[in-house]
Amino acid sequence: MRVLVLSDIHANLAALDAVLADAKELDYETVWCLGDTVGYGPEPDECITRIRLLGAVTVAGNHDWAALGRMEVDDFNPEARRAVLWTRDNIGAENLAWLSSLPSQPLVQGEFTLTHGSPRDPVWEYVLYPSTATANLAFFPTPFCLVGHTHVPALYVAQSEDQKASLLRPTFGKPMPLRGGTRAILNPGSVGQPRDNDRRTAYAILDTDALTWLPRRVAYPIEITQAHMRAAGLPERLINRLAFGW
Ligand SMILES: [Fe+2]
Repeated sequence: MRVLVLSDIHANLAALDAVLADAKELDYETVWCLGDTVGYGPEPDECITRIRLLGAVTVAGNHDWAALGRMEVDDFNPEARRAVLWTRDNIGAENLAWLSSLPSQPLVQGEFTLTHGSPRDPVWEYVLYPSTATANLAFFPTPFCLVGHTHVPALYVAQSEDQKASLLRPTFGKPMPLRGGTRAILNPGSVGQPRDNDRRTAYAILDTDALTWLPRRVAYPIEITQAHMRAAGLPERLINRLAFGW
């Protein structure tokens, strides 16, 4: 089965549509979404509607929880807080109900465990380093775990249960074999707010039979998202960072 793997869309509809257009050629059969569908961006309601129409298997992220009022906005910096409050007011009742139905615990799909942050701490922990990846290997039952949350595409691969995970940088546009390691934690990067100094949207196509991971990058009209953010009165720093991929 070929799976379109999305994460951290962050209410950026232009980025999501660019991904869907690009992925059309790649024959995916199903969609997995690793959380933070909303937050920061100007189209939370529209992005949720797209994801629902795709029938995506979706988990909850910290920004989804914030939009639902499940966490204190004081935990966010002032700009993120403004964006959270704006987001709460701009999601329809039906889409809010869908958001609140998302699991916050890891979901198992065949050989893959899906979670937002990490299998150890699904909503909050960032898997940003090989040491964090290694510490998390004991917390998922399947060979592979898919995470988002960092907004940085990455693969952490361990050759055996008791070995350390090492970081592999993704080769965009080229399928990477997953058979080389016995366990791996894979991050497709962020659709709507990349943070690896590359402003292009990021996603991956996973082939669960061939066991390959195809990381992709696609340019999208950032200025459209920025104009919508400005019109919504969202913070200038959040608008500007999209142009830097940070
Ligand atoms: Fe996020």
